[in-house]
Amino acid sequence: MRVIAIDGPAGAGKSTVARQVSTATGLRYLDTGAMYRCVALAVQQSSTDAHDAEAVGKIAREVSVVIGRDVSMLNGIDVSTEIRSSEINGIVSIIAAHTPVRDAMREQQRSWIRDQQGGVVEGRDIGTVVFPEAILKVFLTASPEVRAERRVGQSGGDIQAVASSIAERDHLDSTRLDSPLKPSNDSVVVDSSNKTIEEVVAEIVAHFESVDHG
Ligand code: CDP
Repeated sequence: MRVIAIDGPAGAGKSTVARQVSTATGLRYLDTGAMYRCVALAVQQSSTDAHDAEAVGKIAREVSVVIGRDVSMLNGIDVSTEIRSSEINGIVSIIAAHTPVRDAMREQQRSWIRDQQGGVVEGRDIGTVVFPEAILKVFLTASPEVRAERRVGQSGGDIQAVASSIAERDHLDSTRLDSPLKPSNDSVVVDSSNKTIEEVVAEIVAHFESVDHG
């Protein structure tokens, strides 16, 4: 199946790059981070303790999460803006570390990939765990300073606060026991610090074309 897995830390440019790679290749795009963010919002709305793996896992199994290219729906409601708040940034990596949550999300991600017969899928564990058979795996990264600057450029906020929120999330994501953030052995590592979006997209599309056409 034609899957391009794009993993990497916050602010590396995954969403922008993945969208453009999707347009260039004709493969559908899936933002798996938005799925975890929707679960985090449901946890917040129900005043559930984010550290309670069992209760959060139950929520993850019961909610309806539908992620489109531009719109994220939680239980039939458009929550695209709410899931990007600083409160959600503060709890998403806590709820995403729970195995019952990851099990529920992975099942949905794999079924999406089967239905779409492939796709450009971005997240933290796509190439390592969700779809290790992906024909192209990219680990997209950038220096912490560049990532914080990009986030401030996108969503505003104080640079120090944004940098420490990203650092905290990176730490939780890369040290959790279940599918930690790390490059898989067979991934192409792309450091976007000194590259334009266009350069990164062109690099990934060129890799894809060489593997797609054998
Ligand atoms: O856009 P940004 O890089 O800030 O984050 P995101 O891709 O929306 O992901 C939000 C959070 O969801 C991450 O910090 C991870 O804790 C979690 N996540 C995950 O655990 N596994 C994935 N495949 C995708 C996201």
